[in-house]
Amino acid sequence: MNPNAKQPFKIITIDGAAATGKSTTANAIAKELGFLHVDTGSHFRILCHHLIQKKITPKDPNSSLETILRSVPIDTEIIEGSAILKIGQELLQTKALRTEEINNSVSKFASMEPIRNFLLDYQRSLKTYTQDAGIPGMVIEGRDIGSVVFPDAYLKIFLHADEKTRIARRKNEGQIDPISKRDDLDSTRKIAPLTCPPDALKLNTSLLSLDQVIDSILKHIESA
Ligand code: DC
Repeated sequence: MNPNAKQPFKIITIDGAAATGKSTTANAIAKELGFLHVDTGSHFRILCHHLIQKKITPKDPNSSLETILRSVPIDTEIIEGSAILKIGQELLQTKALRTEEINNSVSKFASMEPIRNFLLDYQRSLKTYTQDAGIPGMVIEGRDIGSVVFPDAYLKIFLHADEKTRIARRKNEGQIDPISKRDDLDSTRKIAPLTCPPDALKLNTSLLSLDQVIDSILKHIESA
């Protein structure tokens, strides 16, 4: 094989419910491979924050949401290897996006068709964004990434863990997060519900450390 031959652009998807270890795992795998990390949960959270500020609720009709979404000014910035969605000048990172208010309403907003369509277009556009930045691939995490956003991804991972373990993880992080309620809303909604793609590598992280999860994914990539 010609060592100078250009490798094809690769997308690795990591899906799973809340507190299964997606973000830390996706970040570490992206760093190891020199890929861009994309956390799509943060996209729903920042949009949720923006809509709450505009006094929009998930009970508002789709038509008023569509009008607002047409004028939401979005941009992307890469910070420490992760692509961050910016709305206007507002750049919100983890802590500001994990408030009790956002944890309580993000799944309701995420079930709305205009929001899903808006973010689906944005998330798919990140492939060209990453290629144009000269980055050889992306590790993108969420709920519907392997099933809907990038169904032709090079590798799909699905993380799961028992509910008790996941609730304990969030508590240890000091977060008030209605995980069970969010799981229910995220996996039963009509559009793009949380699901394990049939061709995904499925890993139970309940009894594994994050290092063990990351190692086993990297070994799987090496042997592919
Ligand atoms: O991964 P997270 O907990 O930060 O995600 C927040 C919410 O966003 C989650 O409860 C459901 C929604 N979400 C989604 O519907 N689809 C995605 N691809 C990612 C997140």
